[in-house]
This record gives sequence, C-alpha cells and structure tokens, in this order.
Amino acid sequence: MFGEMKVFSGSSHPTLALGIASHIGMQLGKSRITRFSNENIKVKIDENVRESDVFVIQTSCPPVSDNLVEMLIMIDALKFASAARITAVLPYYPYARSDKKDEARISITARLVADLLQTAGADRVLAMTLHAPQILGFFRIPADQLLATPVLVNHFRNSDLSNSVVVATDAGAGKIAGHFAKRLGLPMAIIDKRRVDDSESARSTALIGEVADKDCIIFDDEIATGGSIKEAARILRGFGVRRVRVGATHAVFSGTALTRLQEADLDELVVTDTIPIPPAISNAIPNLKVLSTASMFGDAILRIHGGRSISEMMEE
Ligand code: R5P
Repeated sequence: MFGEMKVFSGSSHPTLALGIASHIGMQLGKSRITRFSNENIKVKIDENVRESDVFVIQTSCPPVSDNLVEMLIMIDALKFASAARITAVLPYYPYARSDKKDEARISITARLVADLLQTAGADRVLAMTLHAPQILGFFRIPADQLLATPVLVNHFRNSDLSNSVVVATDAGAGKIAGHFAKRLGLPMAIIDKRRVDDSESARSTALIGEVADKDCIIFDDEIATGGSIKEAARILRGFGVRRVRVGATHAVFSGTALTRLQEADLDELVVTDTIPIPPAISNAIPNLKVLSTASMFGDAILRIHGGRSISEMMEE
C-alpha cells in the first residue's frame, strides 16, 4: 500500500480538477505555477508529499504545448519532493493525433508523450477515451483507460429510444460505438468515412445499416474541427433520418468547429467536460449539453489508491 493520497492540478482545467477532488472529498494539493520573464515555467509544490500516493490532473487544451510542459515539470517537482507514486491523470491525452508511422520522417507524438511522462517521473497513467487504443501500449508503466460510455449511456437512457439507432462516424469508431449501442440495447449503423492519413480532412460516401425514419445517435470519441459530425449529419439526412443527436467524449472544438456544428443543424449535441469549453463557444452552439466526468475520475483515483479494478467501472 502507498501512503496518503494527494490530488494536484495543473492550470489547464481547474473546474474539472475541483470537481474530482470534491467527489473524493478532499482539497486539491497546494502548488504554485509561475513564469520567469523568459516564459520558463516554474512549479513549486507548497506542501509535504513525502511517501504520498500523488495524482496530478492535467488535460490537453490550448495552450496545448505549454500545458504538457507544465505537467512534466509538476511531475518532476513531485518526484524530487519524494512522492512515493505519481499517477498522471490525463482527461484528454495530449498529442494523440499522430499515433502511427503512416508517412516518412514523422514523429509518433503519442509515443513521444508517453516517453516524456515516464522520463519526468510518472509511475502510472490514467486517461479517458484515447484517440487510438494502441496508445496504451506506448507505456512501460501501468496505464488505465476510462471510457466515458457510462456517463453518455446514462444521459441517453433518460430519453425515448424506441426508434433509435447508434451511428459510428467511421469503421474505426465502430468498436466503441458498438459497445455504446449494446449498453443502450440499440442497433448500429456505420458511415464509410475515408481518411487516408493523419490530415484532418475526410469524406463520407456510404452507410452500412438501417437509418431511414430513425432517431440517430452519432457516437464518436472526439469532435475536433467538427468535419466528421457535419459530414455524418449530411449523409444521415440524405438517408431520410428523423432526428440527429450526437454523443462524443472530447469537445476539442478546434478551428472551424463552431461554424460546422452550427451548420450541422443537430437536434442534440452531448459532450463531456474532459476539455474546458469557452463560453463564447458553448453559448453559441444550440442544444449543447456538457456531462461531468468528475465522479468517474474520482472513483478511478480511489480505486487505483485502493488497488481495486478499473475495468469493473465500465461494466457498471
Ligand atoms: C476519427 O478519427 C475520430 O474518431 C473523430 O471522428 C475525429 O477525430 C473528429 O475530428 P473532426 O471533428 O475534425 O472531424
């Protein structure tokens, strides 16, 4: 068993970190993050962490690179302050977009981040819905992946699902969307989206499954530029669906997302709070609902501290 549990937060998403700490029933650890005049980040841990079981929460959101470096410096500071074990809690994993060698002379940045976290001193990792499951294999330390599925399932279960079908935006999302459909007891359809490389453009042409006159719930791991959702909604409307609702874990909402989501004319857009959404965006997207993942992360932290199963949480 490790020592006392302590939860620290970087500066990326204080609202989520406070929600996680409050669910656990504790205060966030005291730390100060400042900058030198040359922009170098300085972290000072303001309380004793010797022999403690420490969890550090930092999500990936703008400024993405600064938040990553801040996390590495926090872990380093905690390690050299003699924490017994450090778990990096990453609600949205940074630099996950490049996760395979599909072009010459590129960096697999998702693996590089895994290396950096370990070098800084992380002993474990806890993340939510990774862009690709193989990222777990980039670690040489224990890495746990939470899925937001239970949170999203609870939301959609409270609505009329009698005429609904779950839709995956591409074959890659089919497995996780299938898990979601099974939990809701719904059939599934898959959109044939073609993306030839890690570039952010894709085109959909066809659909596998029955969607005409149905209420569709598009299920995806993340919404970045909104292209996949807009394209999926366009294809579905072409097949004569009745309603288009969306359930996605990470609200990245980058680049053209706001315009595209407004143009997609969705009946409901449900995301989680793994990434903070600026009010200028959330207020401008009609039918947006943001679900909290704080209790899931809080429960997972308690389970890791107590040496209990994480996979059981996805079965609840
Ligand atoms: C596919 O690779 C993912 O599951 C998402 O569909 C994709 O990341 C969403 O990106 P965007 O919103 O830019 O289409």
